[in-house]
Amino acid sequence: MKILITGGAGFIGQRVAKRLLERGELDGKPIDEIVLLDVVRATFDDRRVRAETGDISDLKVLNQHIDTDTEAIFHLAAIVSGQAEADFDLGMKINLDASRALLEVCRAKGHAPRVVFTSSVAVYGGDLPAIVQDDTALNPQSSYGTQKAIAELLLCDYTRRGFVDGRVLRLPTISVRPGKPNAAASSFVSGIIREPLNGERSTCPVDGDTRVWLLSPQRATDALIAGCEIGRAALGNRPIINLPGLSVSVNEMVEALREVAGDEAVARIDWQRDERIEKIVVSWPGAWNTERARAAGLAGDASFAEIIRAYIAARS
Ligand SMILES: NC(=O)c1ccc[n+]([C@@H]2O[C@H](COP(=O)([O-])OP(=O)(O)OC[C@H]3O[C@@H](n4cnc5c(N)ncnc54)[C@H](O)[C@@H]3O)[C@@H](O)[C@H]2O)c1
Repeated sequence: MKILITGGAGFIGQRVAKRLLERGELDGKPIDEIVLLDVVRATFDDRRVRAETGDISDLKVLNQHIDTDTEAIFHLAAIVSGQAEADFDLGMKINLDASRALLEVCRAKGHAPRVVFTSSVAVYGGDLPAIVQDDTALNPQSSYGTQKAIAELLLCDYTRRGFVDGRVLRLPTISVRPGKPNAAASSFVSGIIREPLNGERSTCPVDGDTRVWLLSPQRATDALIAGCEIGRAALGNRPIINLPGLSVSVNEMVEALREVAGDEAVARIDWQRDERIEKIVVSWPGAWNTERARAAGLAGDASFAEIIRAYIAARS
């Protein structure tokens, strides 16, 4: 089987590739090749991996890397929330136009590959119930959320028409994310844990009562692969799944940090509200109903302290 991962040099793309290589198969078929397509070259020491640089907004690039042997596509390339809000044109071009172009190229090839699209909590917003339900209306309060919501609908329609076998997996915010802060409005959700654990200071830009919906990188990776393997029939006429998460307030996250790493780590957090970030983050749901995901065998994390311990274990 040949698999394409757009955004294959990114945080989730690298993890999905690594996990797929460890498994050696997807949906019962041996993996012959994984193409990692990104504007940045991925480095991977495995003969089954081909790292390619290219911009997914370029039709030639998509045509070059999607062929009738490409049985599964993890479409992860994106302009993240903070950047898509700062640069409207770029967000539209990559998150929306290039996503549609990718679907069009699949349609033209005519072999209906499986396409996993990573959507986000950001498709919801406004006046939300404490627990968002499957039928809660989408009401994004950011350009990123709007671009994701439109791309979701496109993927559903291309799936209904039989052009692709798509599935939208809505991700909670991923935490604890290793590495450096990024341009996502949610970057602090990892930063306030990661930086203090590394002996560095970190700024929390939102109120401690702000509730966030979180999933660890390990669980997110497993869920994306399991989501790709869900049979068409199980998805019915709604190929969208809200992945399980943990609903925690920022204060509860900080208490979990105290439990795992003590007062000294917590003292490295500076509290300084940033209206621009807070406005985006508080518009996202703090929890959603995960019945459908659990019925499909997709699991979340047990506690935020467990997520922190897993981050520390993976680091060492
Ligand atoms: N990490 C999270 O908390 C989270 C939450 C919800 C949804 N998501 C979604 O999951 C997906 C992966 O997220 P991530 O955290 O790995 O992000 P990331 O920023 O680490 O990875 C995205 C990758 O896409 C690449 N990319 C951007 N523009 C491109 C282009 N024009 N052509 C080719 N590649 C391009 C980037 O170089 C980057 O490597 C994204 O679609 C994101 O919107 C992530």
